[in-house]
Amino acid sequence: MAYKPGAMVKVDGRSVEVLFGPAEINARLQVLGREIETQYRGRDLVVVGVLKGAFIFMSDLVRHIGIPLACDFLRVASYDHDQSTGIVRMEFDMTQPVEGKDVLLVEDIVDSGRTLRHLLAHLKTKQPRSLKVATLLFKETGAKSRGLVDYTAFECPQRFVVGYGLDSEGLYRSLPFIGAFQEV
Ligand code: IMP
Ligand code: MG
Repeated sequence: MAYKPGAMVKVDGRSVEVLFGPAEINARLQVLGREIETQYRGRDLVVVGVLKGAFIFMSDLVRHIGIPLACDFLRVASYDHDQSTGIVRMEFDMTQPVEGKDVLLVEDIVDSGRTLRHLLAHLKTKQPRSLKVATLLFKETGAKSRGLVDYTAFECPQRFVVGYGLDSEGLYRSLPFIGAFQEV
């Protein structure tokens, strides 16, 4: 099935609007990958994915970056039900030192930017030579965090989105498109 933007798809009995389909995602990642490739040629690139949300975006993106690179991952848990305290907990960290290397942090979505700020502070302590950020989605609500992001695949409307790595209560990460549940 071709998941075209605007199409309505039934997921788990609920209606989901396709925002970005596989074709749009692939085309955008090709451009982004080339841009990253150009900027990091001859450098010591380590691409660091934030689990779990970034796993699909990162796996597709790195295949569009045609230079040698290392991959690593870390995992944070943010407590969405506890917005006031904004606790972001590191569940596991990267496995290789990145001191003196060029780190590209890969996120699924930047919303308030709280998770990203926390991650950047953490990564800076590892003293990389450079530290940049690529995100699949940037939500309109994150305006204050715009300056923290170097590469954005898509601007995201102020809706809750799932698919292509993004979840709702742990589910729907495997959808081959990025979609938004219809408000009922
Ligand atoms: P922030 O800390 O407010 O920027 O939120 C970032 C995290 O919240 C992301 O890494 C996601 O895990 C989650 N998140 C924010 N918006 C959405 C959404 O629309 N769908 C799924 N997860 C989201
Ligand atoms: Mg999540």
